[in-house]
Amino acid sequence: MPASDPAMLGRAPDPIGEVLFENRKIEAAVDRLAREIEHQVGDRELILVAVLDGALIFAADLLRRLPGRTRLATVRASSYRGARTAPEDLEIHIPDVDLTGQHVLLVDDIVDTGRTLQQLQAALLTHRPASLQTCVLLDKPSRREVAVTVDWVGFTVPDRFVIGYGLDWDGWFRDLPYIAALDLPA
Ligand code: IMP
Ligand code: MG
Repeated sequence: MPASDPAMLGRAPDPIGEVLFENRKIEAAVDRLAREIEHQVGDRELILVAVLDGALIFAADLLRRLPGRTRLATVRASSYRGARTAPEDLEIHIPDVDLTGQHVLLVDDIVDTGRTLQQLQAALLTHRPASLQTCVLLDKPSRREVAVTVDWVGFTVPDRFVIGYGLDWDGWFRDLPYIAALDLPA
């Protein structure tokens, strides 16, 4: 039964709203980002640090488009409960991989208030990487609360809660191949 089935969610109607990015468009954006990153990184070794759970699908697609000198590590940052954020609850688990002297690419699904990436970047920098750059699939600049440096962005999105391609609402809809607005009944 698909996650979008209202019976499974116990609510109706289906909260999948307007589709903002079809899978084809997402694939093209990931291709472009990989090309730009590859161009900049050259033949240096890279550690791609994916932020779980939201960046799981994006990071997997990006990793497979980067040349053979990329290793994968993960960090977990959970702050969302449903469609609300509580940055003070952010839990960060830094990977076991030694990042010292390494070129690190932090990969997340979306930069919203910026608090998650700001804290993750600070945490990763304590490991003294040779470089730290950040790539996100989506940027929601209208919601920014703290200044954060993001080197690569797939798409800019309006101030709407979005789901799909790894992004969830209360754990649901990460499996959608496209990105849509969440459309909850009033
Ligand atoms: P920030 O700390 O406010 O920038 O929030 C970043 C995190 O919140 C992301 O890594 C996402 O996991 C989550 N998030 C922010 N906006 C959305 C959204 O529209 N849909 C789903 N998750 C979101
Ligand atoms: Mg996240």
